[in-house]
Amino acid sequence: MKYKIMSADEAASLIQNGQQIAFSGFTPAGATKEIPGAIARRAEAEHAAGRPFAVRVITGASTGDSCDGVLARADAIEYRAPYQSNADLRARANKNELKFTDLHLSMTPQYMNYGFMGKFDWAIVEAADVSDDGEILLTTSVGIAPTGLKLAEKVLIEINEYHSKELRGFHDIYETANPPFRREIPIYSAGDRIGSQVVKIDPKKIVGIVITNKADEVKPFKPSDPITEKIGQNVADFLAAEMKVGRIPQQFLPIQSGVGNIANAVLGALGNNPDIPAFSMYSEVLQDSVIELIEHGRINCASATSLTVTPSKIQEIYANPKFFRERLVLRPQEISNSPEIARRIGIISINTAIEVDLSGNVNSSHIMGKNLMNGIGGSGDFTRAAYTSIYTCPSVAKGGLISAIVPNVSHCDHNEHSVNIIITEYGVADLRCKTPYERAEILIENCAHPEYRDLLRKFIKDAPMGHTPQTLARAYAFHEAFVTQGDMHKAVL
Ligand code: COA
Repeated sequence: MKYKIMSADEAASLIQNGQQIAFSGFTPAGATKEIPGAIARRAEAEHAAGRPFAVRVITGASTGDSCDGVLARADAIEYRAPYQSNADLRARANKNELKFTDLHLSMTPQYMNYGFMGKFDWAIVEAADVSDDGEILLTTSVGIAPTGLKLAEKVLIEINEYHSKELRGFHDIYETANPPFRREIPIYSAGDRIGSQVVKIDPKKIVGIVITNKADEVKPFKPSDPITEKIGQNVADFLAAEMKVGRIPQQFLPIQSGVGNIANAVLGALGNNPDIPAFSMYSEVLQDSVIELIEHGRINCASATSLTVTPSKIQEIYANPKFFRERLVLRPQEISNSPEIARRIGIISINTAIEVDLSGNVNSSHIMGKNLMNGIGGSGDFTRAAYTSIYTCPSVAKGGLISAIVPNVSHCDHNEHSVNIIITEYGVADLRCKTPYERAEILIENCAHPEYRDLLRKFIKDAPMGHTPQTLARAYAFHEAFVTQGDMHKAVL
């Protein structure tokens, strides 16, 4: 290899205070694991010497603790976008100790391309291989890596020998032109391939290579509980019924599914439902459950930007690369999350809400209107463009002290015009083409926890006449009761 092999500390010594870096990684999959730690050590040394040191960190989505965690704990982040899920980073963002912007994930590469984010000094990416003429074989995610590699002045690559070179052929790298030169993205079904297997850059930009051998920091799932299982069952039953009445075609439609335990339960229930045929996925993240459903012939093919699977699952994939290469496609997040494609191929989007209000507005990202949880992620990319958009959540949080169905959401990510279906463990609220009063009633009667139904009914009954049931003075009575008394049951209406 013609590039300079260096240590992570040597690589970090090249980075200057205030520089902007595009990192690979979408979830811990494909995130860099060595250089961020070295940047954090450098920041700590600079801070100890009384000098400022922090960098601007742009990634695909969240990363692993070896990137977001170490950098946050070292106070080495000046600015961060577009999504995170790290407790230390979140805590600093919520104290405004670092600047954080929550962005739609499909928009992030566009904002980079349009110049909205300024100049990129560095791209730091994980790769399985790099050729002397600048062909980079990415690992388990694509994310913003192609855009960062294109725009950055200089590039550092972590070659992670844990990953198999058999990954060649899993990726489909395609970049859009900026308006006014953009054309349609020619994907007509989830498995279509339209790009290249590698990212190609000018090899002169590659300043150094750091070698590592580490698995992605993907944690196994918590065991499922009866509530998530019931939600999963309700989603599968709803979709099977939609098919029966002809609102979903007999071939079924591609599924987009969020991450986490509810998403896992939903996929498990869809996979087990004999009335639902084998289906495809057009999603952003693929978890272990998708791999199992592919192995069982229940998923035909799956497109995403990230293969967020546990080490044992990735080894199963590496042991059988031909089988999985034919069934998995990893795309840049601008393409995996493209609203154009979501609308064209008719995806059914299934994401998780923190809270939902009586109009059907959804909050995915903030607690009590002010503290960031993770971010909007790709949920908005899919929701607005979906054939049918579904949000799931347990009816209560914090042992029942919080109702997930509230008079008004304390922060709005997805508005009532884009949200079609709400599903909790109690049932399904089909909000399509319903009036505001009808929506409120079915949300209360079908989805709210029984302990909160009378309070919610009172909010509707006492509202002054209008098109939408609303009493401004009591709009946040539920949240106010929790913030001041620790219990939404104490809401004064
Ligand atoms: N009010 C206050 N806190 C709430 C709450 C509410 N209405 N609902 C949930 N919470 C808390 C939970 O108690 C939990 O707190 P903890 O971390 O202290 O235990 C936390 O929020 C996470 O909730 P949990 O029930 O564990 O759900 P989850 O892990 O499935 O995450 C989201 C739910 C909404 C936070 C997560 O799905 C997310 O970040 N979504 C946005 C991005 C997205 O949709 N990505 C996929 C797009 S492809």
